[in-house]
Amino acid sequence: MLNKIKYNFDEKINRKGTNCAKYDGLKRYFGYEDLNPLWVADMDFRTPEFINDEIIKAAKNSVYGYSIDDERTYKSIISWQKNRHKWEIEQKDIYIINGVVPAYSACIEAYSDINDEVIVQTPVYPPLFKSVKANNRKVVVNELKEKDGYYTMDLEDLKSKITKKTKILCLCSPHNPVGRVWSKEELQGLAKICLENNITIISDEIHSDITFKEFTPLASISEEIANITITLNSAGKTFNIAGLNCAYAISKNNELLDRFKVIAQKREINSVNFFGYISIRAAYENGANYVDELRSYLQENMHFAKDYLLKNNPDIDFLLPEATYLLWLNFKKIRLSHEEIKNKLLTESKVALNDGLSFGSNADSYFRLNTALTKKALLVALADISKSFK
Ligand SMILES: Cc1ncc(COP(=O)(O)O)c(C=O)c1O
Repeated sequence: MLNKIKYNFDEKINRKGTNCAKYDGLKRYFGYEDLNPLWVADMDFRTPEFINDEIIKAAKNSVYGYSIDDERTYKSIISWQKNRHKWEIEQKDIYIINGVVPAYSACIEAYSDINDEVIVQTPVYPPLFKSVKANNRKVVVNELKEKDGYYTMDLEDLKSKITKKTKILCLCSPHNPVGRVWSKEELQGLAKICLENNITIISDEIHSDITFKEFTPLASISEEIANITITLNSAGKTFNIAGLNCAYAISKNNELLDRFKVIAQKREINSVNFFGYISIRAAYENGANYVDELRSYLQENMHFAKDYLLKNNPDIDFLLPEATYLLWLNFKKIRLSHEEIKNKLLTESKVALNDGLSFGSNADSYFRLNTALTKKALLVALADISKSFK
């Protein structure tokens, strides 16, 4: 029997004036205040009660001193990975840190030297290549292949890009922004090349819970793949608690994890927000039904957007993603320049979408639209976009 629907994703929450990057950062990042924010990847939904209640309980104690990890938090991560993703890990394989992005940067330092090469598969979430540059390593681009809106990895190109200086490959799995859930076979093909060339894989799996087909954690595929992989994850996207700064790294190769820990400690990124442990534990211990309901709501939103745009603006192309709530809209058929589309979105539609150009390469006709908002608000946003591109 299906569980009764418990969570109300139609509730409008006012996020303005709460130091919220998505709303209060509009002027800073887009130059205008009065935009409908459909950009940064967080959701406009209320954090579920099973997390909120624990946070409030902790706050009522009125002391916010330093925090420390505990066994229950590790157990919650272990159970979540096992129950949701059929991946068996142990406490010794996990290291808790304050964010996936800071962990990326630490991984780059841990597994490569200055001027070494790091492969990224563009278009991709920008910190992946930004942190490579910031650590004085060289970004090597292995562009994804696109056909009729569907993206695949170009493994021949990847092989041709590898040199003696290539030390790391950054994998985004599932992939932001193109919405792919990589199949086991695709991951095996990629890992085989990395194994043959002594390349460490940083697998960013932060979007692994909001998926619409079976997701395979890279390191769960085989022992030899686990041996070259460090996985980064968090409950931040899934439960909309990114602002609580709690994430974790997993590696079954404890030598690899130890090298990461040394840099994480040096950079002091292993000290987690007071509410971080509380929230991740509450999320993973109680969140299974919530995630199932959330996925259904998001899927309805994305189907709605697909139908709406097909009917009203068939020249704005996109495929429904296999993961995430982010639509990767292609404006190529509109036959306007990148700047013209961008200006129309900002000044006519009055919406803030992520610019495809910011995702590396191969995406100047694209803009990314976040659909994690109420159905009512989504309709308003789509209507505003639609009328500017008729
Ligand atoms: C692929 C990916 N990795 C990491 C992050 C951010 O992770 P964190 O907030 O833990 O640094 C995001 C946020 O949008 C993301 O899309």
